[in-house]
Amino acid sequence: MTKSLTPLNIQKIQQLTHCGHIHYFDCVDSTNSYLLENGCCGDICISDSQHAGRGRRGNQWISPASGNLYFSLDWCFDNISEYWSLLGLIVGIACCEALAEIGLKKHGIKWPNDIYWNRKKLGGILLETRDQSGELVIGIGLNISLPISAKANINQAATSLEEAMKASQSDKIFSNNIREALIISLIKRLYYHLNHFKQFSFSQFSKSWEIWDILQNEWVSFEHQNNKITGRVAGIDKQGQLGIVDANGQLTFFSTADIRLKKWVDK
Ligand code: BTN
Repeated sequence: MTKSLTPLNIQKIQQLTHCGHIHYFDCVDSTNSYLLENGCCGDICISDSQHAGRGRRGNQWISPASGNLYFSLDWCFDNISEYWSLLGLIVGIACCEALAEIGLKKHGIKWPNDIYWNRKKLGGILLETRDQSGELVIGIGLNISLPISAKANINQAATSLEEAMKASQSDKIFSNNIREALIISLIKRLYYHLNHFKQFSFSQFSKSWEIWDILQNEWVSFEHQNNKITGRVAGIDKQGQLGIVDANGQLTFFSTADIRLKKWVDK
């Protein structure tokens, strides 16, 4: 039996965050697509479900009406910063901070911007631009409650906030209105980071990244230009590329376009 979904109190979210206009639906094709077509700077789109949810690399984002978060924010920047390519990582940090605020522990970011708990994917981020104007749509999907039927359709190890909080015996109780609390924290953390992006400091960013980066010093393997590379993760550079030290001690930085990290290698 499907649990009934408590609708969000949009007025309360707006009052507590002073955010822009929230477009709220019970079902939409994709919250990102909605804002790309209809959004203005500062608008937010939230839906209880999506019938054409989109992930990175053209993947589908399974979006049942089970209480998950399907959220997009339309954000306009005055000018394009040299650190533009770090934005996805910054949004990942904002998500982790919001999850910590509502009581989750031991979660983090798997480069570039997948949110993980216990080596399983809890959420993902899809950044899209409408044109070259500096207007960005930030899409965030976080699994809050995942029915077994939906889990079976996801082609990688997935988890949910409900599973993670129950397993880690968080002192905060997993409850029906956790989605609302998460949205409020998420909007606040996103606003904080996006408003401070003008005065971006790479050293400050690196400190936050280190807190949430779950791959640091881990061994990973991936394909690069038809070669299998195995190496140890050694931080990121100012473009957000991942540093890998190979078996010969050589450090190389790879971009998301170059590689697709498949798995950890246990050594
Ligand atoms: C990924 O592949 O990890 C990114 C998933 C992003 C999913 C979110 S859900 C809200 C927004 N709307 C979409 O269609 N996609 C993003």
